[in-house]
Amino acid sequence: MRPDDESRGMALKYLEISGGRPLFGEIQIQGSKNAALPILVSCILSEGTCRIENCPEIKDVEDTLQIMRELGCSTKRSGRTVYVNTSGISGWEIRATEASRIRSSVLFLGALLGRMGKAALPMPGGCAIGSRPVDLHQKALEQMGAVFRNGDQIQAECPLIQGGRIRLPFPSVGATENCLLACVLAKGESWIENPAREPEIDELCGFLNLRGARITRRADGSLRIQGVSRLEPGVWQIQADRIVAGTYLMAAACTGGSLCVSGCSRESLGAAAEVLRQMGAQVQNQEKRWAVAVRERLKGVPYIETRPYPEFPTDLQSPLMTALSVASGRSRIRETIFENRFSTAWELHKMGARIRVEGNLACIDGVRRLRGARIQAPDLRGGAALVLAGLQAEGITRIERTEYIERGYEDICRDLGSVGARIRVVQDAGG
Ligand code: UD1
Repeated sequence: MRPDDESRGMALKYLEISGGRPLFGEIQIQGSKNAALPILVSCILSEGTCRIENCPEIKDVEDTLQIMRELGCSTKRSGRTVYVNTSGISGWEIRATEASRIRSSVLFLGALLGRMGKAALPMPGGCAIGSRPVDLHQKALEQMGAVFRNGDQIQAECPLIQGGRIRLPFPSVGATENCLLACVLAKGESWIENPAREPEIDELCGFLNLRGARITRRADGSLRIQGVSRLEPGVWQIQADRIVAGTYLMAAACTGGSLCVSGCSRESLGAAAEVLRQMGAQVQNQEKRWAVAVRERLKGVPYIETRPYPEFPTDLQSPLMTALSVASGRSRIRETIFENRFSTAWELHKMGARIRVEGNLACIDGVRRLRGARIQAPDLRGGAALVLAGLQAEGITRIERTEYIERGYEDICRDLGSVGARIRVVQDAGG
């Protein structure tokens, strides 16, 4: 979804970056957005209060909490700790506009079916990075006995969820999470074949198991869920956000700096680290600490494609595009997950990048230096990629539509400013 022009007539907010300074230092990485969202939604599967620690202070989390309040939950935030009390949950219908703003609202489908046997919610929103249908979610839940009613909204009913064998034709992250949420309280045993393997899925399983669920992942990746009759509330600490960490490592690489980030496991950043090494960066990892250092101009990568975990993530494709646009030689990126994820290229052109897009393939001829320009964030990760471009560019870059970036980054100015970037938020009263 492209945000409407609610900002028209109001103060215009934008980021202003004065480029050309290498980043040096260390950044503590915020909690993971993609782990926090399903974990919060899963709270509604039990009665009582769950405590979620290290929950990132971002717009998508606030929207999720607003939907939970509409369902009758009470929520409280104290810094990065969020308390969700689900005892007052009464409804199964979501009308909140927040639900049509974020993609992850679709996860309420599985959770409400699991807890209430019924669910109704608007079609989910999210970044305009592709068509993002929900057919895989629907087909998987139908295999468990859910009956859907067609209409403008998603409506489903399933008084008794039956365990069974579910095979996903594609390892969709959201569809895997929806199945898990619906299966944990199902009657009997369920198998999810070809599920997503992203670390955020295992984190969700960890939280559900802590509360009494019985989920195991087999060596072939499939998930086995033995249904239980109830879940208890629980306490959980969200892992660091591997996409934010990867974005910052690439920011340091683009600017020829050296940076440490902490909190992410070896596996979770493995593919991104490998690409940075191919580009000539020195990347080191010790336990959950990562360091990147770049002493020479980055080298292009002949060919890379985005793939489901553990391969190179689509969420880091845009930041990588920025890095490759200033690397030597020709690089090519194939985007295989979201078809519209090259909008960043059009904004990078305004900064002097040489990128040719043909379908899902981007061909990038690196330039030495980008130049500052007035540009707009096209989506969440694309917006972050433009910040990286601004840090590398000569002169001043002004990035509008920062609301996209706020959906996933707690405070990109605080983080990058602490390691030497000249970046600030400007409120332009004139609009
Ligand atoms: C999640 C992440 C997002 C990440 C993406 C892929 C969250 C909150 N978001 O999104 O950051 O970029 O995984 O790693 O965790 N698809 C269908 N039908 C469906 C569902 C998906 O065709 O019913 C397609 C999508 O259009 C897309 C692909 O499958 O082309 C991947 O989607 P999916 O893995 O479901 O991504 P999300 O869960 O939306």
